[in-house]
Parts: sequence; structure tokens; C-alpha cells
Amino acid sequence: MAEPVRVAVTGAAGQIAYNLLFRIASGEIFGKDRPVHLRLLEIPAAMHALQGVVMELEDCNFSPLASIETSDQPERAFDGVNWALLVGSRPRSPGMERSDLIRINGPIFVGQGKALNRAAPDVRVAVVGNPCNTNCLIALNNSDVPPERFSAMMRLDQNRAASLLARRAGQPMGSVTNMVVWGNHSNNQYPDFENARINGKLAPDVIRDETWLREQFVTEIRQRGAMVITIRGSSSSASAANAILCDIHAFSQSTPTNDWFSAAVCSNGEYGVDPGLVFGFPLRSSGQGDWSIVEGIPMSPWAQTQLNKVLDELRHERDVVKDLLR
Ligand code: NAD
Ligand code: LMR
Repeated sequence: MAEPVRVAVTGAAGQIAYNLLFRIASGEIFGKDRPVHLRLLEIPAAMHALQGVVMELEDCNFSPLASIETSDQPERAFDGVNWALLVGSRPRSPGMERSDLIRINGPIFVGQGKALNRAAPDVRVAVVGNPCNTNCLIALNNSDVPPERFSAMMRLDQNRAASLLARRAGQPMGSVTNMVVWGNHSNNQYPDFENARINGKLAPDVIRDETWLREQFVTEIRQRGAMVITIRGSSSSASAANAILCDIHAFSQSTPTNDWFSAAVCSNGEYGVDPGLVFGFPLRSSGQGDWSIVEGIPMSPWAQTQLNKVLDELRHERDVVKDLLR
């Protein structure tokens, strides 16, 4: 049997968790022969509903599922975990921007950041609750866990962008590589079509419509989350859960040669981004939970203005929560 993995999921009675927990427990992501211990965190008011989720997990009879513990105490839920998936927080409603949640959800990540000090030394923390970049900034500032163990999720944006480019090019899903979404999981993010590749060729050389790429493509990816909320009536959940699994996979497997993936990590000043900001970058991993930023990716002057705009937005978000940063 492989080494067991302990996984904490916050917001475990919520919509994303309902699409996530069963896939983790089935062995889909950590392996069918790797025992999984689930540590589920909720607020007291949702502990009763969480029992129903636990019953359903039990009723699946998944072989890798070694144990389930529920708690409303972050210190308990995070004790000894190898992965902490920080989902629990309020989603936005129609008409809201994700940044409108900053003072509602931000304080959650102060206490959770501190509680993560009890996690295993190899813990990887993935922040999903919105606005996820700045919530991640709050969590890592309140924790003694090294900042490089934290990331915020840009993967749903990456998947959306890759899917739209493939569909526009009339190519199969999976044909797009080198898709980086720079900056913030917000409507100022920059999905970088200039460096994306479709079947190995630069996307602009395949699609040959610069106006569509700069206008419709970028706008659609920026607004996709809001469109799902308007049309479906609630925030994306199955695709978000899927993106969390893609994130875990990206940090757990060596990145294929010549490719990269998107996640927001703590900047060391790369691409002119202020050190300490949690910014979406192109990353590569050796598969041990580590990452490095791919440097030297070319950018047109137009793309640079997009990057500057999203950088200003993240600086502003940091100012709004400065009382929550240690
Ligand atoms: P949901 O309302 O269905 O579930 C959220 C759950 O979190 C609830 O059960 C709630 O009780 C719980 N919760 C609230 N505060 C908590 C706390 N302090 N500790 C533990 N649990 C807590 O929402 P959802 O659809 O699952 O979305 C969760 C979050 O994920 C939202 O902020 C949403 O905007 C965000 N999201 C992010 C992405 C992304 O790409 N980064 C994608 C989709 C959704
Ligand atoms: C998404 O991108 O679908 C999520 O961040 C939910 C939202 O508020 O848009």
C-alpha cells in the first residue's frame, strides 16, 4: 500500500465540495492504492448537513477511503494534513464582483492561516474561496507555513481558456498547451493567447483573428464565472471541483516538457510583480509539490498593459485587507 494522504477540505457541506469529495475518495487523484483520510471542516450551522455528505461518502464504499473526520475547528481539521483545500466561504450572487466578497470572506483566512501551522511539513494549501488570490495572501501572511506551500486557483480560468481556443480552432479538447492566465482570478485576469499553443503551433497563427482574440476571447474568459452564475443561477461547482483536481495533479506530477500550468503563487518579483503578491504565473513542477515560475515569456506591449492593469488591481486588494496581514 502507498503512503496515506491526509486531505482537509473546508466548506465541506457546500456545492464545490459535493462535486469534489467523492472524486478524491474514489482514488481518482491520489491513486486507487493510496489510503485517503478526509478531514472535513464546516461552520457549526452546517455540521448537520455535513453528516449527510459523510453518509453518502460511506455509502459509496470507496476502497481508498480510510477515514473521515468532521470538525468546526480549523486546528483540528488541519492537524497533520498533506493537502488543505480552502473552499469554504461565501460565493458571489448575480451582479457582484468577486472583490465585493473581500471583507466578508477575508477574515476566514486569518484564523485558517494560523491553524495551518498544525499541518504536515509537506502541506500544500490551495485557496479556492473568493477572492482567492487575496484570501491566499491573507492566509499565508498569518501562517508560519512557508509561502511557497500556498497557491490560489487560476486553473478554472486556464481550463476555460484552453477549451475556448480549442473550440474556436475546431480542434479537440486537450489540443491546447502553454496556457497561462496572468494575475488575478477576477475580471481583469489576462488569459495569454499570444503564448498558448494549439497542437504545438502558436494560437494566433492558427486562429488568425487578432481582434477576436483580444476582444471576444479575453472578455469571455474574464466573464465566464459571472455568466455561469447568471445562467445556472449559482456559482460554478462541478467545473471548479474539476479544476481543484487538475491543480493537485499539476503540483504532484512532473510538468511535461515545453508546457506550463497556471496557478497564483507568492511573487519574488518575477515579471515586475511586487514581491509577496499572490499572482497568476506560468509554473512548472517536478511533481514533489514544488513549483518554479517560467521566466522570459515574451509579451507584446498590449499584453504588458493587461498585466499592469491586473497588477494594480491586486495592489488595491492588498491595501483593502492590510489590517488582516501580519
Ligand atoms: P457554497 O455556499 O455552496 O459552500 C460554501 C460552504 O462553505 C458552505 O457550506 C459554508 O457553510 C462553508 N463555510 C463558510 N464559512 C466557512 C468557514 N469559515 N469554514 C469552513 N466552512 C465555511 O459555495 P461554493 O459554491 O462551494 O463556493 C465556495 C467558494 O469558492 C466561494 O467563495 C466561491 O466564490 C469560490 N469559487 C472559486 C472558484 C475559483 O476558481 N477560485 C471557482 C468557483 C467558486
Ligand atoms: C468562477 O470563476 O466560476 C468562480 O470564481 C465563481 C464566480 O464568482 O465567478
